[in-house]
Amino acid sequence: MIQKYVYGMPFETEAVIVDVEIGNGNPSYGMVNLENGFSFTYRLAKEDVVYGLGEANRGINKRGGCYISDCTDNPHHTEDVRSLYAAHNFIIVAGTQNFGLFIDYPSRIIFDIGDTRADTLKITCEQADLYLYVIEGDTPYEIVKQFRKQIGRSYIPPKFAFGFGQSRWGYRTKEDYREVADGYRRNHIPMDMIYMDIDYMQDFKDFTLNEEHFSEFPEFVQEMKEQNIRLIPIIDAGVKIENGYPVYEEGIKNRYFCQQEDGKEFVAAVWPGYTHFPDVLNPEARQWFGDYYQLLTDQGIEGFWNDMNEPAIFYTPEGIKKVSEKMVEYLKNREEKPSTWEVRNELLGLANSQTDYESFYHQVGGQRIRHDKVHNLFGYNMTRAAGEAFDRIEPNKRFLIFSRSSYIGMHRYGGIWTGDNKSWWSHILLNLKMLPSLNMCGFLYVGADLGGFGADTTRDLLLRWLALGVFTPLMRNHSAIGTRAQECFRFEQVEDFRHVIQVRYRLLPYLYSEYMKAALEDDMYFKPLAFVYPKDTHAPLVEDQLMLGNEIMIAPVYIQNARGRYVYLPEEMKFVKFLPDGMIYEEILSAGHHYVDIELDEVPLFIRQGKCIPVAEIAEHVEALDTVHMTVIGYLGAEYLLYEDDGIHKDYDNPKNWRTVK
Ligand code: NOJ
Repeated sequence: MIQKYVYGMPFETEAVIVDVEIGNGNPSYGMVNLENGFSFTYRLAKEDVVYGLGEANRGINKRGGCYISDCTDNPHHTEDVRSLYAAHNFIIVAGTQNFGLFIDYPSRIIFDIGDTRADTLKITCEQADLYLYVIEGDTPYEIVKQFRKQIGRSYIPPKFAFGFGQSRWGYRTKEDYREVADGYRRNHIPMDMIYMDIDYMQDFKDFTLNEEHFSEFPEFVQEMKEQNIRLIPIIDAGVKIENGYPVYEEGIKNRYFCQQEDGKEFVAAVWPGYTHFPDVLNPEARQWFGDYYQLLTDQGIEGFWNDMNEPAIFYTPEGIKKVSEKMVEYLKNREEKPSTWEVRNELLGLANSQTDYESFYHQVGGQRIRHDKVHNLFGYNMTRAAGEAFDRIEPNKRFLIFSRSSYIGMHRYGGIWTGDNKSWWSHILLNLKMLPSLNMCGFLYVGADLGGFGADTTRDLLLRWLALGVFTPLMRNHSAIGTRAQECFRFEQVEDFRHVIQVRYRLLPYLYSEYMKAALEDDMYFKPLAFVYPKDTHAPLVEDQLMLGNEIMIAPVYIQNARGRYVYLPEEMKFVKFLPDGMIYEEILSAGHHYVDIELDEVPLFIRQGKCIPVAEIAEHVEALDTVHMTVIGYLGAEYLLYEDDGIHKDYDNPKNWRTVK
């Protein structure tokens, strides 16, 4: 049962795509108050668990924290951070009463989930213009499934996108890419993609190629494809202001950029220096921007990542002016100087400032709307621009696309990566905790920067993180410029990396099949244990293990120097370890708590009672996988229903895609 409540004049985000009955009066749960903006308050019982919020900080159970949906470019994901890059306003309260809430509101919204008062859930936003969806169901899992039906089928990437990808900010020349390709191929570490960060562009201009380093680009794309490697370029939100640059000139001519109140184009500094933002909320401008992706698909490119689309702003001319004035003042009146903090905060406040977000507009449906009112929809619509363009370019072909910023609804057009994490052990766990929450909100093609983006990684950290990444649909090693090089072949005993990534490929037929089942049935690929074992009283407390698909449970090691970990089994399971010599260790463990040994070069998983999974032989890239001669591991006599298609086209409903393996 799902009901929709309308408050004020909501903006049509197009997150929900089916008609939902409008409820009368007040929702049956909690209290809505419209006196000062909008608020929803609900009294939490001691044992209530709160799930959801997709890409958000802290636990799978969101209780005890405050989260703010306000898409933000913040590379410091410490525990106190309340806003990350995404706004996924769907939560589920599970316990004495079970219900889900989706607050379809595209601006800043606060979820205080037992932070101010341990027993109170309070959701507030400034403007009472929104749709509130209330979803009832017997279990939180049922609620998720119902919600997912309202928001439409999740994005399905091509199969190569389930391979391993190497990325790093700082690759500049063809030689840099060749070195990476060679490092992987020479060491027989499987790989399918190398990502191109901003330096492939000419002066960081979208849809251009660096003239010095990337002449004859189609030939280079082909050279990589001959090694079964796809190049995946980045596209940024800001379009450089530069005469003679067609994207800039057309955008100006057609008024496709966001404007200030006085009608002048809004200016923001990002990587290329001063830029304009394409007004991707305006369908015409969105189509125009999207069509540019074809410049690269025509040269053989089959995938992209969309970045800086919160949209991130380093500073604006207005901001600089204000701070300069303050600085002059500061230097002039040394006697009555403003406090150091004041000056420091002025400088820090230049980036992603609210004042800037309040000073530009979008054109939607003949109306002008101030950016801050719809701030959380920018990344969504930039990625939608690409997704809609791919459907025009080659309607039956799947392209890889994922975004940094997102809102529910974008899950139909692309996946996401979880932004600039750090090479910290705690971020392996944070990565794990976000996964089921993202699935609740429709985002299935997800992953984090394995090894950590900021700070220097270590060999053991990268290996342990990869052993989680083996299971995430997007498996990409990415790092920031200036940090320690973290391509797998840079470390000693490269065979350990080879082995861990080989396990990904051995499991790929199973992982792909489970991904497709989740996508086609509006289901989850990663689930909290409690969703599968609703009667188990310990399951809701488990925050470092996940159910994956219908057959397995994962429990990665995320503590430095650990040589194993404690694990909780809600039922008897088969403990499986992929050993470095290619052998598979299997042992039945009874329900309950266990300590299991897991060395750095081993990948563990647990097969549920009575189930089995197919395992392929190793392959160095996705196309080389042999899915005919596979072995089956798990419980004797079990069968597995495998989904397999060509991985390129959209022939999902073909019954030939299904077969039983045993
Ligand atoms: C920010 C992104 O989050 C990161 O992944 C990328 O490397 C840098 N921008 C540079 O493009």
